This record gives sequence, structure tokens and C-alpha cells, in this order.
Amino acid sequence: MDFALSEELEMIRDSAREYAERVLKPQAGSADAAEQFSVEVMQEAAEAGFMGLTVPEEFGGAGLGNLHAAVMLEEINRWDPSIGVTLSVHISLACNSLNKWGSDAAKAKYLPRLASGEIIGAYCLTEPQAGSDAAAVRTKAEKVDGGWKISGTKSWITTGEYAGLYVVYAVTDPDAPRGRNMGAFLIEREMDGVIVGKKELKLGLRASSTTEMIFENVFVPDENMLGVPGQGFKIALDTLDGGRIGIASQALGIHRACLEESIQYSKDRKQFGKPIGEFQGVAWKLADMATALEANRMLVHKAAWLRDLGQPCTKECSMAKLAASRACNVAAQDAVQIHGGAGYTKEFPVERHYRDARITEIYEGATDIQRLVISRHL
Ligand code: CAA
Repeated sequence: MDFALSEELEMIRDSAREYAERVLKPQAGSADAAEQFSVEVMQEAAEAGFMGLTVPEEFGGAGLGNLHAAVMLEEINRWDPSIGVTLSVHISLACNSLNKWGSDAAKAKYLPRLASGEIIGAYCLTEPQAGSDAAAVRTKAEKVDGGWKISGTKSWITTGEYAGLYVVYAVTDPDAPRGRNMGAFLIEREMDGVIVGKKELKLGLRASSTTEMIFENVFVPDENMLGVPGQGFKIALDTLDGGRIGIASQALGIHRACLEESIQYSKDRKQFGKPIGEFQGVAWKLADMATALEANRMLVHKAAWLRDLGQPCTKECSMAKLAASRACNVAAQDAVQIHGGAGYTKEFPVERHYRDARITEIYEGATDIQRLVISRHL
């Protein structure tokens, strides 16, 4: 057993840290205030190789795995979770599922464009009546000559407005049993009938694009189906196992931001004649935050390592997401508390971290859904 990062993982961590400090740190606060997604910032992520990190080399990517992505995503999310979620969804929910389940034609057509950053990937599962109960999808896929016609409305789509390719889940056979009635389809932004719906105004991650997506009789060719008809829901859940590692890594990044900002503030801020970090009430909060971060990083890395080995890891992915997102929220709460009144203002970044942390317990399976998944494996 070896707990050290390999040389290759250290290189990824260092290059992600360099990009995050140079590009994300200066703009994360203003992008949040303006609620503006930045295509340029994503382009720089693509140039650094992050968008194609897990895409096989034959399709222009780096051919690396979930552990590499987890290490990279913690660094990105340390400074900017809006870019963090965009990258996480692109890598784990779009690139990885296309690579695992796509036809040769679809992989050759889209993976190089996704890896180079020419297009960003998005994942369209959720609908107004199908949130935690993801099998309740109503979007329809009707078989036609040479392909399928897709119609329906999807909610809360990360990168909805800026994505070039959407993985869309739709019912292919309404008479088939629940969970075995869906297909997964690749829909291009330029296809006829693709409409970007209302933009969500959010508590946090304000610089990421979240929209409704409407598909009106969109024709997709047969080769744009992932897997086979009826397999879609299993593909969705398998894909989400990997996605949950990405969101757990996001939680690590936000958690680390809370810890580092709080350590700095508790050294700078003096009350009763000494830095507040010298008071046990503050010092113990910092100790708990640091311990939880280390413990959860191990859970996240273990889940990613298992998935890279191709071993069953649904339970471990949910455990990593459950624990890391919960601890991140506790850390954000404590960080604001340590900052006192200052933490309640936009003068200090912990105000943003507190808002950003909240979503890690909600998307890609709410905390109670992770508990449901874990308990079903016990
Ligand atoms: N991998 C592959 N197959 C799986 C699986 C997995 N991890 N988990 C379950 N399955 C299989 C089951 O074996 C079952 O197969 P059979 O029909 O052959 O028996 C089938 O899939 C259905 O499974 P369940 O019976 O467990 O399904 P369920 O209806 O009880 O739901 C659930 C399970 C865990 C609650 C699931 O609906 C779920 O995860 N809900 C949360 C939805 C979610 O995470 N949404 C995220 C939206 S995307 C997002 O947020 C992205 C973003 O923008 C950031």
C-alpha cells in the first residue's frame, strides 16, 4: 500500500494548481458577481490539457483516469467551482460515458472535439418530475428510419447555454419496465430542434451556466446512441458513479479553500490582544477542518482508484460524495464563523465558498440519495 501521489499525479496536480492560481484566482470573484460564464477561461483549461484528460490518446486526449481527474479537480475547485463543475461534467458525464458506451463512429466524431475544447459536453438526465427519482424521465425517443426523434424538456443542465454536445436520456419503449425503458443519445447543439430554455439564477456557482434544455423532434442518427435501447438508465447510473467522484473532488477543493482562508484570517485578526487562532475555540475548528479534509481526500482517491481498476465502486463513489460534500458544508459554516462579520461580506471569499458549498450536497445525487445507494449495498 502506498499513500503517495505518483510522479505523474504530482505533475497533474502542479499544472492544475498553476493554472488555477494564474487564471482562476484573479477572476473567480468577479465572474461570480457578474454571473458570467467564461468561454476564454475554459479555452485555457483546454490548452492546459484538462478537457481531454481522460480521453484516449488516439482521440487527442491524455488517456488518464479518474484519479488524475480527481487530483486536477480539487485544484481547480480550490479557486473556482463554476469552472470546476463545468470541467467535471464535461469529463465524467460526457467524455467518459461516450468513451465507454459510444459507437466507434461517435467516438471518432466527437471525442477529438471534446478533448481539444472545441466543444463542451453536457449531461441531460433530470426533468421537472425526474430529480432524485431519475427513472421517471418522460422525454421520448421515437424510432424512425436511420435514427431516432427526441422530444422533451430537461432541467438544471450544467453548461446548457454553452455546450456543443448533450448526452440526453429518453424513453425508447414506454411499455418496458421502469429503469429498462430508456436510451442515451448524443445530441449536437446545432441539430434542428435544440432550444436553450430559461437560465437559472443560483445561490452559488453563479459563473457556471445552468439552463433548461428543450428538444423538439430532434433527429439523431443511430450511431449517436450510447449502448443499446433499454440500457440508458444503467448507463446514466454507471456514469453518475464517476460523476460523483468529480463532485466529491469539488467538495475537497471548496473545503480546502475554507481551511486555507480561515488559517490566514485567524493569524491576521487580533482580538483581546492576540491572534484569534490562539484561542482554542478557533484552533479546534481549524484542526477538525484539516482532519476531515485529509480523511475525505482518502475516500475520494480510493473511489477513483477502484473505478480506474474497473472494480465495483458504486458504494465507494457514493461514500466519497456523501462524506466530502457534508464535511465541505461544515467547513464552509465554520469558515464564515471564524471570519465573523467579515465572513458575511463580499470582502472575503468565504462568503462565496459558503454559497458554493451548498450545491455539493444536492447535485449528482442529493445526500439522502447517496445514503440510499450506500445502504442498499450493506
Ligand atoms: N451502475 C449500473 N447500473 C446500476 C447502478 C449503477 N451504479 N445502480 C443501479 N443500477 C441498475 C440496477 O441494478 C437496476 O438494474 P435491473 O433493472 O437490471 O435490476 C437498474 O439500474 C435500476 O436501478 P434501481 O432499481 O436501483 O433504480 P431506482 O429507480 O431505485 O433509482 C437511484 C436508483 C439511486 C435513486 C437513482 O435514481 C439516482 O441515483 N437518483 C439520483 C439522480 C441523480 O443523481 N441525478 C443527478 C443529475 S445529473 C447532475 O446533477 C449533473 C450536474 O449538473 C452537476
